[in-house]
Amino acid sequence: MTMDGLDPQRFLSALLRMGIDRYVSGRQEALTLATLKAQVGACTRCELSRSRRSVVFGEGDEAARLVFVGEAPGEEEDRQGRPFVGRAGKLLDQMIERIGLHRKDVFICNVLKCRPPNNRDPDPAEVDVCKGHLFAQLELIRPHLICTLGKHAYNTLLGVDARITRIRGTLTSYKGTRLLPTYHPSYLLRNQAAIKEAYEDMEKVKTLLAEDRG
Ligand code: URA
Repeated sequence: MTMDGLDPQRFLSALLRMGIDRYVSGRQEALTLATLKAQVGACTRCELSRSRRSVVFGEGDEAARLVFVGEAPGEEEDRQGRPFVGRAGKLLDQMIERIGLHRKDVFICNVLKCRPPNNRDPDPAEVDVCKGHLFAQLELIRPHLICTLGKHAYNTLLGVDARITRIRGTLTSYKGTRLLPTYHPSYLLRNQAAIKEAYEDMEKVKTLLAEDRG
């Protein structure tokens, strides 16, 4: 018996009337970035789902060799439903250009998919329920290199509690994928002196991607 073309509730009621109380569908929907996006878009697993205007899933090349991971959407990102479209986003665009790439060539996402009110830091409980979305994104995209922006992305992926000033620019790996941490663009807007180091990190990203091409 198939469920095709039937309302799922009516289908299950019909099975129950026949004395069948278990049904295992033979169809398994393959998880793609599009299906994941739909799932994340319906997420209500934390309080942020009540205050958000948009779920900011992330955007870019679904087969990107380079993924940037930020912290959480801000006001403008929440309004537009897109990552890094405010002031910090303009600086991220410049950083990407330093690598010789454009936004459309990479994938950009965040640890949290919904905006914390008043741009406060992500709460550890929010990170805990949301990080699975990020892990799934990385599994589907399978990039050659991950560039984390700021401490939250780095600490979430590696399950540590490191200070960004200690670890930035130090190559490590996440589940076998190379990971290079750099400063968050919002931090760079407040600490212009650190931009030089962030640009050095982008040079490193460029070299690592070139090496990978062999
Ligand atoms: N800061 C982030 O961490 N992510 C965004 O999308 C925008 C600002």
